[in-house]
Amino acid sequence: MHIDIISVVPELLDSPLSHSILQRAQDKGLLTVRVHDLRPYGLGKHHSTDDYQFGGGAGMVMRCEPLAALIDELREQRNYDEIIYLTPDGERLTQRRANRLSLQTDLLMICGHYKGIDERIREEYVTLEISIGDYVLSGGELAAAVLVDSIGRLLPGVIGDETSALTDTFQDDLLAPPVYTRPAEWRGREVPAILRSGNTGAIEEWRHQRAEERTRARRPDLLSDTDPVAD
Ligand code: 6GU
Repeated sequence: MHIDIISVVPELLDSPLSHSILQRAQDKGLLTVRVHDLRPYGLGKHHSTDDYQFGGGAGMVMRCEPLAALIDELREQRNYDEIIYLTPDGERLTQRRANRLSLQTDLLMICGHYKGIDERIREEYVTLEISIGDYVLSGGELAAAVLVDSIGRLLPGVIGDETSALTDTFQDDLLAPPVYTRPAEWRGREVPAILRSGNTGAIEEWRHQRAEERTRARRPDLLSDTDPVAD
């Protein structure tokens, strides 16, 4: 998979992309991520990428021409499966959405700033608008980092058995069950005996029950959900 990201603050993406699982994915050649600075495409001697909004009101809007110039240049090099605009008014990111995007090969992500990007860029280029939750971030970069992480870790070969993505919370529309490691007793708290019984059938059953219990208590909304890949 290849992911291009357009940003006016590319530095914000350096650290999230260069550690842990995402770095491993890139080292293994399973994922390449390239962050493109919009600033050089800005207009005039100050390379302006934003302007006041028509109709008045506080907050700047990212202008069309710099974004179009960079997007056009990138599109000459790749045929994107999706051009994604990260925005709080987009569709909410879910595990299902991440699963589906992980099957693609070329993604372009556009990070907005200020009041967002000119609506005409959305109409002209954007095929998918994604929000990572109902709160406002100061720019799309942290959201893009979340999206890239959620997709990148699903690519075949990126994570090993020890962290199998298939047993994650949400993959079966259930929260994950409690987990324990050594020591078997800590501050008087014992690891449930069943997990140390060696009885894999009973352990599976216990985990499933705890997962259901936890989901019912904390996220009953998940229990009415459907197939993790389908629409
Ligand atoms: Cl994708 N962008 C911004 N700026 N804020 C957000 C978001 C995205 N998702 C939730 N809040």
